[in-house]
Amino acid sequence: MKILVIHGPSLNLLGKREPEIYGRRTLKEIDEMLVAHGRDRGVEVVTYQSNHEGDIIDRIHASVPEKVSAILLNPGAYTHTSMAIADAIRAVPTPVVEVHLSNVFARGPERAHSVTSGACRGLVSGFGHESYLLGIDAALRLA
Ligand code: DQA
Repeated sequence: MKILVIHGPSLNLLGKREPEIYGRRTLKEIDEMLVAHGRDRGVEVVTYQSNHEGDIIDRIHASVPEKVSAILLNPGAYTHTSMAIADAIRAVPTPVVEVHLSNVFARGPERAHSVTSGACRGLVSGFGHESYLLGIDAALRLA
């Protein structure tokens, strides 16, 4: 079984980017944690980060020929704007779990509005890097 984790824009800067909101762990540290978490559960975890909407869409589409069992997606700011990513999620049979480090519903009206969440099977938001670990466990239930 394979789970694909997709990190959206500016998540490559984790650790340095607004650490009071997103924490001090780097993306590399989080990815290593996710791979180890998957290994403990007998699942392969593959990670990918892009700052580009189209690349994220291509990666979602590629989950089908790559036989990915489930996707964990943090769309970053595209959460609040991208109908194109929402459509890509709806276009594939792969179950998608959305994750956010911060609680997007507690950060004002712009972030409380989500375009992508309704296209996903579920959402984990607000637990820092642990959102991803919880997301892997949720994805495993759907896979
Ligand atoms: C985020 C929340 C988004 O609103 C923001 O634009 C991000 C990170 C999170 O993980 O908390 O880039 O997705």
